[in-house]
Amino acid sequence: MSYANLHKADIKAKVEQLLSKMTLAQKVGQMTQAERLTCSPAQLKQYHLGSILSGGGSCPGDNTVQDWVNTNDEYWAASMEQDQDHLAIPLLYGVDAIHGNNNVRGATVFPHNIGLGASHDVDLLKRIAQVTAKEVLATGVEWTFAPTLAVAQNNCWGRTYESYSQYPEIISQYAKAFVNGLQANLDDNSVIACAKHWVGDGGTTNGIDQGETTLPELDLRNTHITPYYQALDAGVLTIMASFNSWNSEKCHGHYYLLTEVLKGEMGFDGFIVSDWDGIDYLAKDYFDTVALGVNAGIDMFMVPENWQLFIEHLIKHVELGNVDISRIDDAVRRILTVKYAYGLFDKPRPAQRKHANSESFGSAEHRAVAQEAVRKSLVLLKNDNDVLPLSKHANVLVAGKNANNTGHQCGGFTIDWQGVDSNEKIEGGSSIWQGIKALAPHAELSTDPLAIEADASKHDVAIVVIGETPYAEGMGDIRQNDDVIIEAGSQIKGQLKVLEAYGKSLELSQLHPEDLALIESIHAKKIPIVVVLISGRTLVINPELAIADAFVAAWLPGSEGQGVADVLFGDYNFHGKLSFSWPKTNKQAMSSRHQTCDADYLFPHGFGLKY
Ligand code: GLC
Repeated sequence: MSYANLHKADIKAKVEQLLSKMTLAQKVGQMTQAERLTCSPAQLKQYHLGSILSGGGSCPGDNTVQDWVNTNDEYWAASMEQDQDHLAIPLLYGVDAIHGNNNVRGATVFPHNIGLGASHDVDLLKRIAQVTAKEVLATGVEWTFAPTLAVAQNNCWGRTYESYSQYPEIISQYAKAFVNGLQANLDDNSVIACAKHWVGDGGTTNGIDQGETTLPELDLRNTHITPYYQALDAGVLTIMASFNSWNSEKCHGHYYLLTEVLKGEMGFDGFIVSDWDGIDYLAKDYFDTVALGVNAGIDMFMVPENWQLFIEHLIKHVELGNVDISRIDDAVRRILTVKYAYGLFDKPRPAQRKHANSESFGSAEHRAVAQEAVRKSLVLLKNDNDVLPLSKHANVLVAGKNANNTGHQCGGFTIDWQGVDSNEKIEGGSSIWQGIKALAPHAELSTDPLAIEADASKHDVAIVVIGETPYAEGMGDIRQNDDVIIEAGSQIKGQLKVLEAYGKSLELSQLHPEDLALIESIHAKKIPIVVVLISGRTLVINPELAIADAFVAAWLPGSEGQGVADVLFGDYNFHGKLSFSWPKTNKQAMSSRHQTCDADYLFPHGFGLKY
C-alpha cells in the first residue's frame, strides 16, 4: 500500500492508539456500510458506521453537485462529533463512478470499459481516471468502486461492457494505470479506488450474473486473478468481493481466496468490502451468514438495508466466540489504515476541500478527454467502396433509435442504475445526431421507425444508429430459458436470485428486429448506409452487416457523441481494435470464449479497419 503524508510506522502507531480506545460496538460499526437512503447522519453517529454508499441512481436532493456536497458534509460532521459514546472517525462515502461520476447530473460520462478496451491507450485510461477523481471529489465523495477487472468470457453476461477485454493482459495494463490515476499520491487530487469483483466474475457458466465459475485453479489464476497483481502493485486500497461462486463455493465466504490468496499470498494490505448484500447467499439463516462472511476475510460489509441487524448479529457472534476479536481487530486495523493512508483524518469537511463544487465538473476540458476516448474506442468493421469518411457537405439522413438519445449511448450506471432513455437527463455533452449536425449542415434527422422520408434523390448517404438500450448487471443477461441458471451460484434460500433477463438471443435481429427493418427499408431506396452499433457487447450482426456499406462498433460511448461524428466525417481516423473477438453465430456467441479459438470468429481480437 502506498501512503499519503504519513509514514507507515506513524500510521501503524495511530491505528493502534485509536483501536485501543474503541469499544466492540464502535469496531463493528466501523466494519459496516449502509445505503444513504436507510441511514441518517444521526444514525451513522449512533451506530459508529465506517461508511455510507450511494447505490446506482441513489442521488441526494436534485442530484446537483451542491446537493452531494451538502449530504457528504452532514455525514462527515456526524462521524466527527466526538462525545462520551462516539469517537471521531471520518466516514468514507462510496459510489459507483465507473465511467465518470456517472450518477450526477452534468458529469462527464466516459465510454464504458468495453470501448476503452478497444482504444489500447494506457495513458488515456490514466487521464480518464484523473478526470473521474476530480469529478468525484467535486461532490465531496472519497471512494469509487472502480476499476472493474472482470475478464468477461461470455457475451450473455449483462456486465460484459464493464470488462475491458476477454484477455487479462490488456486489463492488467489498464488496472495499474487506472488505479494510479484515481489514487495518484493519495493527495488532494485523489480518491480511493476499489478493484472488483474478486474473483472470477466474468467467467460464470452461461454468463449468468452472480453465477457459478467452474474452473481449475490454474485457469482461475491465469485468467481472472492476473489483473489484480497490477492493481496491487499500484497500491489499490480496497477490493470488492464477488457475488459469483468458484467451483460451487461463494466468493463471499471463501477463506482460501479472500484470506489465504489475496491477503496472504498476494500481500493485499488494504481492506476487502463485500458487494451489495453479498453475504446473504452464504447460508439460509442470516445470523450464520454474518459469521461466515467475517471469518472468511471480508472487512467491511455493504449491507445497504439491514445494517442494524448485521451489527447486532456480529456483536453477538463475538460474544459467543463464533468470531474471534482478533478477526474484528484485523478488519478494523485495515479500515483505519486505509483512512489514515488516504489522509482522511487530516481533511477538512467535504465542503471545504480543494475540489468541492469545482468548476471543472463537466467542463469542456474534461469533456475533451471523453471525446478523445470516444474517437479511440470506435472500431470500423466494414467500409465498402470507401463510403467513409463522409463529406461534411453531403446530404446525410440520420436515423435509428440510438441516433438522438444520449441516455442510450451512455448505457447502464448512468444517472440511474439501469441507465436512462433521454437527452434531457444527461446534461452537457452531445447525442450522436447533435455531433453529426455540428459538422454536416445538410444532415437531417428521421424519427420514423422506417425512415420513410429516405429518398435517393435527396440523400447521398444514411447513418443508422441502432443496437441495445441501457441495462445493468443481471438485467442485461441473455438467457434462452431459466433452465440454464446454475444452482450453486444463484441459489438463495431456495429461490433463484436472478433478475429479468434482457433477452433470449445475442442475434441483434432477434433482440431488436426494428433495427434490421430500418436498415432494409433504407437499403430498398438504394441509399448507401453507415451503421453505428450502440451495444455493451459483441452481438451477432450478420444480416445487418450484409446490407450495410460501412459498419462501426461504437460500444457505449457516453456523453460525448460528438466523438463519433469526428471520425465519421474524417476529422480523425479510426483507431480502435477489438478487445473481444466478434462472434459469427448465436451458438458461438452464447458459449464461453475459452471454448472456441479466435480463428472461428467473424472478426478476431485485434481487428479494426482504418481509412
Ligand atoms: C452492485 C455491483 C457492484 C457495485 C455495488 C454498489 O450490486 O455488483 O459492482 O459496486 O453493487 O452499487
